Amino acid sequence: MDLTGKVAVVTGSGRGLGLAYATALARAGAAVVVNDLDAETAERAATSITEAGGRAVAEAVAVGTSEAAQALVDRAVAAFGRLDVMVTNAGILRDKVLWKMTDEDFDAVVTTHLRGTFTCARAAAIRMREQGDGGSLIMVGSPAGQRGNFGQTNYAAAKAGIAAMVRTWSMELARAGITVNAIVPVAATAMTETIPAFAPYIEAMKQGAPLPGFLRKGEGFGTAADCAALVPFLASGAARSVTGQCIGIGGDKLALWSHPHETAVAYADGGWSPEAIAASWATSVGREPQTTGIPAPVIPGGGAA
Ligand SMILES: NC(=O)c1ccc[n+]([C@@H]2O[C@H](COP(=O)([O-])OP(=O)(O)OC[C@H]3O[C@@H](n4cnc5c(N)ncnc54)[C@H](O)[C@@H]3O)[C@@H](O)[C@H]2O)c1
Repeated sequence: MDLTGKVAVVTGSGRGLGLAYATALARAGAAVVVNDLDAETAERAATSITEAGGRAVAEAVAVGTSEAAQALVDRAVAAFGRLDVMVTNAGILRDKVLWKMTDEDFDAVVTTHLRGTFTCARAAAIRMREQGDGGSLIMVGSPAGQRGNFGQTNYAAAKAGIAAMVRTWSMELARAGITVNAIVPVAATAMTETIPAFAPYIEAMKQGAPLPGFLRKGEGFGTAADCAALVPFLASGAARSVTGQCIGIGGDKLALWSHPHETAVAYADGGWSPEAIAASWATSVGREPQTTGIPAPVIPGGGAA
């Protein structure tokens, strides 16, 4: 996968999945603007890329505002002359059940994920449209956004919103040759290593043991580097016709998420009354209700965690 001559921004790439994405892009030949909240983290990540022979600069700014998004696009243009790939990966969690979630918990997550994705994608799209030769917007979703997740009102809403923006932008930017997709990753990072069911396996992995097959295949759970393969692909000419998709990756698994669509329909001549809906619900559209939430991991010998 040769991305020589392409220029990418990866938000939140000081560590975790973002660093793996930036490293994979640089390995494929792209020049990368690394971003994170603090200068030291961003600089350290950029140095790890340049020391391995890649091209990278660091831009420390908190994504969420239009100014931050513009600063990232401007840095790409100032350092490398153009922008071809925008990866909106920066993210935080503030988990609480609905009745305990504060306005601040909600706003912090929505600002970073949803607003951060909107502002960075918009700034990138404006620049790519001016350049006139296409580009790749790679946004980041989550299984929580696809299905909902207990304790994640703010996060699930933001990630579902990102999937909706991806579908919208894929239509709006098609004429400009700009593809728009969402990665739906699952990986061992600071964000996930506290999940109790996975903790012992992640600890063993840090000591050099491989992750067991039931995690890599069954749960699609692996390392950040496993997820990174999708990014150079989506940024490349090989993915020019791939747009508007939510693509799962993790461990040994690659997946395509379905988009919402009607799964059952029923008709009443002249329209429905509440009584008619009640009378037919269980035998018509309500016969097989949709499930919610991310299925609990099944740990061999231990049942569902
Ligand atoms: N790890 C997983 O299994 C998983 C699953 C689904 C989705 N994701 C998503 O992948 C992305 C990366 O997650 P991760 O697991 O690598 O998390 P992480 O916590 O290891 O890394 C996130 C990075 O983003 C940075 N960041 C946070 N707010 C920022 C801001 N406003 N501006 C710039 N940088 C900011 C953090 O400092 C950190 O370096 C997130 O969007 C997350 O929601 C992760």
